[in-house]
Amino acid sequence: MSKKPVVVYGASGYTGRLVCEYLREYNIPFIAAGRSRERLDASMKSNVAGIETADYEIAEVAHNVDALTKLFQGASVVLNTVGPFSKFGPEVVQACLAAKCHYTDTTGEQDWLILLDNEYGARFAAAGLLLAPGIAQMYTTGEIAAQLCLDTPGLDTLDIAVFWGGSPTIASTQTILVNAATSKAYHLQQRQLVEWQADAGLYQLAIPGQHEMALALPWGGTSHPIWFRRDPRVANVKVLGGVFNKPLMLGVPKIVEAALKATEGMNSDDRYAALAQTAAGVMNTMPPRENPRINKSVDSVHAQGPLGRAHCVIYGNSNYKQTGLLQAYAAQALLQGAQKKVGFASGCQAFGHHELLGVLRSFGLVQKPVLTVHD
Ligand SMILES: NC(=O)c1ccc[n+]([C@@H]2O[C@H](COP(=O)([O-])OP(=O)(O)OC[C@H]3O[C@@H](n4cnc5c(N)ncnc54)[C@H](OP(=O)(O)O)[C@@H]3O)[C@@H](O)[C@H]2O)c1
Repeated sequence: MSKKPVVVYGASGYTGRLVCEYLREYNIPFIAAGRSRERLDASMKSNVAGIETADYEIAEVAHNVDALTKLFQGASVVLNTVGPFSKFGPEVVQACLAAKCHYTDTTGEQDWLILLDNEYGARFAAAGLLLAPGIAQMYTTGEIAAQLCLDTPGLDTLDIAVFWGGSPTIASTQTILVNAATSKAYHLQQRQLVEWQADAGLYQLAIPGQHEMALALPWGGTSHPIWFRRDPRVANVKVLGGVFNKPLMLGVPKIVEAALKATEGMNSDDRYAALAQTAAGVMNTMPPRENPRINKSVDSVHAQGPLGRAHCVIYGNSNYKQTGLLQAYAAQALLQGAQKKVGFASGCQAFGHHELLGVLRSFGLVQKPVLTVHD
């Protein structure tokens, strides 16, 4: 039997399952891979709608470069959902290079993007492969809004807000905490990465669509400053975001501060283990399937230049579904050879913002963007 062209690594997770669900809708054969055959099998059978009509197989694999390379050989695209990516990503990226596969993941970790851009981008480009970390609701949907603003020439500054409703998953909680406790957060100022003040606490934000102020954090800096740092149109990018749940937002800086104190002086492995344990204390169960009436997203971008302004808001729902769908579409486009770039690229740079917006719209996950332009 010929090799299936797409590997979903971490398919037993909340996001991996949704990627599989949308691969089925695109009729793309895939391998559902991960560390436990039993969990993968149970996940596919109980959590992936319509799985009985999908063309897939299950692969249990050890998390090391040799085993992953062997699994990826003969496939074309690897969709990685095993995070935190700064912890678990390097083996998967190296295996993709060795097996000559395109790489995408669902990260929102700025430090991981910087590492991939600096260390692996040129090698993927030389191999004719795409390296696209962060094809996910955070922050591709906001990137679409930013790109819609930048369709108006003469704007150089992006002020971005990213908000969502619902519970982070187990790995998302761990990723948020590990990222906040171990990495710096940067924004882009006159084309330079500048560090956010680490102890500035919560920011009050006026976000569209509600009268109540929202509480926000730099959320690790986010992906946008890295994606836009080589865009000749853009000089400044600042992003703030969070969840609509205010008690949770109020708790985040306290949890991070306590975790930093408790792990002071530890080596990186012990520190990761301690942070993972703290994260498990916050969230240790699989959240329910998303409900569009509860799980909402708002991505808002104010763009300005010396003589022009644009504002774009994208209201959406089901953040994790948006992520699953964007990943499946990335695989579909790569299998058709329809990518616009190789090497390090964002979702919009690789596949086009109008195309990605069309995908999210056609599956009912975002409203028509509200775009206002004054030029
Ligand atoms: N940017 C965004 O908008 C966005 C959206 C969705 C997800 N994400 C990110 O994507 C990642 C996954 O999220 P999720 O929702 O799928 O979390 P999840 O439900 O907790 O799933 C985590 C997956 O990773 C696997 N895994 C965990 N530790 C592993 C290890 N040591 N070796 C191999 N596999 C391991 C798990 O396997 P088992 O089932 O065997 O435990 C599971 O398949 C997180 O980092 C999250 O932050 C980001």
